[in-house]
Order: sequence, then C-alpha cells, then structure tokens
Amino acid sequence: MKRSTSTPNLTRRALLGGLAGGAVLGLLPPPIRAATNGVREFTLRAQKADVNLVGEQFPATAVWCYSGQAPGPVLRARQGERLRIRVDNALDEPTAVHWHGLRIPVDMDGVPGISQAPIAPGQSFTYDFTVPDAGTYWYHSHVSTSEQIGRGLHGALIVDEAQPPPVDRDELWVLDDWRLNREAQIAPFGHGMDISHGGRFGNTLTVNGRLSETFAVRAGERIRLRLVNVANARLFGIHFEGHDPQVIAYDGHPVEPHRPPGGQVLLGPGQRADLILDCTGQPGETYRVIEAAYEGETYQLFAMTYAPDAPVRANPAPLPTLVPNPLSDPDLNAAQRLNVTLDGGAMSGLQGAIYDGERLDVRDLMQRGRMWAINGVAAHTTAMPPLFTLKRGGSYVVAIENNTVFPHPMHLHGHAFRILARDGQSVPHQPWADTVLLNPRGTAEIAFVADNPGDWLFHCHVLEHVSGGMTSVFRVT
Ligand code: C2O
Ligand code: CU
Repeated sequence: MKRSTSTPNLTRRALLGGLAGGAVLGLLPPPIRAATNGVREFTLRAQKADVNLVGEQFPATAVWCYSGQAPGPVLRARQGERLRIRVDNALDEPTAVHWHGLRIPVDMDGVPGISQAPIAPGQSFTYDFTVPDAGTYWYHSHVSTSEQIGRGLHGALIVDEAQPPPVDRDELWVLDDWRLNREAQIAPFGHGMDISHGGRFGNTLTVNGRLSETFAVRAGERIRLRLVNVANARLFGIHFEGHDPQVIAYDGHPVEPHRPPGGQVLLGPGQRADLILDCTGQPGETYRVIEAAYEGETYQLFAMTYAPDAPVRANPAPLPTLVPNPLSDPDLNAAQRLNVTLDGGAMSGLQGAIYDGERLDVRDLMQRGRMWAINGVAAHTTAMPPLFTLKRGGSYVVAIENNTVFPHPMHLHGHAFRILARDGQSVPHQPWADTVLLNPRGTAEIAFVADNPGDWLFHCHVLEHVSGGMTSVFRVT
C-alpha cells in the first residue's frame, strides 16, 4: 500500500534514538472482578491523564483516556454474561462509548444522535447489555472520534469462550500510532490534509500504549495473540520473522485456522485478528516482529527474544478449532443486493454531493469540512435519513465500490457480516467480520442477515474520513 500523505518530522526512530533500549512489554491488568449473579460490573472514567508512551527519557504525554490508562483497562467477560458498565465523564466535553463489534441492542450502541444523548461533562451513563459472541472486541468514544479516540479514549474488550482453546499465554497487542511533537505531546487535530487524504497518521507506533522493544518468549510456547488496530488511520501489516502464525479469528469471530495471505496480518483501523503463534525458535534466539503495511516504511515493533530455557514442548500441538459464534448465515439465493459507492478525497473526480438535503459543489463541501460521500451523500450528522431500510430477518449482499485512491475500512454497527469477495476475488473462508478493508479503487462484497432492529452506522473507520462525511445509516425495521 502507498500512503499519500507527508510524514511528520518526528519519527519513531528519532524518539528511539534517545532510548537505552530493552523495556519488557508491560502486561495489561487482569480481569477486573468476578461476575456476581452473571453480571459483571465495571466503571470507566473518561478523563485527562499523563501517561508515559515513549519512555522515561521523555516527558509524559497528556492524553484523554479511560480510568487513567491509555489504552483503557481491558474489560473481560465470558460469552453470554451481562455487563453493566458505568461511564463517568470527567472530560470538559461530551462523550459516549461505542462497543465496537458487539451485537447488542441499539440503545446501548453509544452513538449520540441515534442511540443516546451524549454524556455531558460531570454526568454518567450506565451501559447494560449481554455479550452474545466470544472474541476480541474493543470500546471507544463515539463523539468527535478523530480527536477523542486519537487522544486515547479506547480500550480492548475480550469475551472468553465457554471453552477457550488451550494455550500457554493469552496476549493482547493494542496497536496504535500517535502524532507527537518533540516534547512527546499530542499534535493538534483537525488538519484539512488529514481529512482530504489518508487520515491522521502518527509518527510514534505503540503496542499497549508503549514503545515496546522486547517480546520475551520461551521455546515451544503456544501464544494466543489478540491484535487490535485502534489507530485513527494507519493500517498495520504485521510480519513475524521466522514464524508461522495462524489466524484463528477475525473481528472476534472464529475462522478456519490459516496462514495470513503473504505471511502478513493486515489490519485496517478497527479490525482485529486472533493468532496462534507457536514459538518454534530455539532457546536464546531473537527474531523481529515488523510492521510493513506501507511501501518503503517498515518498523520493528518487537525483538522477539527467546529465553535460554529448554523448550516447553518438542512439537506444536494440533491447531485448535473454536466454536462458531451464534450468527445466522445469510441466504445468498434470496438476498437482496445493495450497492454502495465511496467517493471523494484528494485526487478524485468528486463533483459535489448532497449535504444536509442540499446539493453542494466541491468548494461548498470543503467549506463545511466535507470531502467524502457515500452514494453521493456527505454526512452532516449521525441523525441522518437512512441510506437503506432493511427488513428485519432479511438477507442482504452489499456490494461496495471504492472510487477513491485511499483505503477505507468500512464498519457496520450492530451486526457481523461475511466477507464474500474483495477486488473481484472470492475471499477464502468467507470470514465473519464487522469491518471490511476496501483497497484504493477496490471493491468488496459482504453479506449478512439484518437481525438487529435499529439505526446502525455504516462508516469508514479512518476517523478523519468520518469527520469529512464518510458515514451513513442502515435502518433495520
Ligand atoms: Cu469502532 Cu462507529 O465505530
Ligand atoms: Cu475512509
């Protein structure tokens, strides 16, 4: 993938130059507390805090985050449990929390303008829902997302299977990038270039909120690795030098275990993958874990260092099979076909779009900060007339065409869909997902059963594209 935007001047390398090296990845906190009567209670405080993203040689970074941590605390539950999560807003502006990928009732979906009033500063809102699916999910603000998520308002949400597959370790890597200045402070938001091009790219890549240099493993170990891309705009293309990881789930949903295409686990913003990583190296060896989604720009995320200890087992165990989540398969013969076209951005032929019911030319759109359109409409608010009205229980195939030169990870709220095809090629295993990555000028076909009533956003997860109008509503009645 090529990236059509300039790189800010502070590079991760530049930051790393001052570091002595070798900090071990900090483990995220364990489950917060046990469920009582099947209800798991959590409190999240949306607040400002100073956290050290880039090491002790640099000042702490002022972030907005949940409960003092960026990423926020890992929320963990068992499939089928009820979660009650109180969110206290200690920010100076309204917020709301969306549970990305969870198929829950629309009034818990966290989208102001559709499902709830924003939580005003000083106020609280309690989310209360049952988690139907096991897997790796995440939560994030759904107000001014470019800035609120970009400043750190996100965290992982893990739902354990009734019978989790046996592994030696269950690891989570929350992948992010930050645009920091030389004092390690977050650069201002709202650049027109970020909106009209590929979104806001950072210059500092973090895993679990740190520049993590070492991933310590033991020979023979089997690790379940959960990857979550929470970046505003950056795709992550992860390579494990000398290893053969197998994908066992996308966006939380089990898939037949397989090698990622080209050995690269490619995740657009919002997307997740669960991997089985067998540590097949020898004691004392070191391998690199590399991010290489963009031509000519590679980052070493980790040095994967093997302890000197003898292997914990001689040969990897057979790969596990996960129990599928309770999803209804779309009936492709009866499915109604819907067409979605994505237009806009720099270097496109966008002539104009409907904005707030009015046809505007490109200059007028730009004056309103809008550069993108879905089926000729540039969003002005989430409370828009629906793009499509779907019949509850009906099967739908959505054919998406990207007429732009940028990639777009398109996310549907409240549902999971099968990815049938991308760029005219049928996708192996037709995995379930909640976000599908459209290549520049590419296409995708997804299919799902519209089984969750309500108004659901269908939007690009490049958050600056959302600001620029790339949002629509699917209504299920
Ligand atoms: Cu994670 Cu509306 O999105
Ligand atoms: Cu986009």
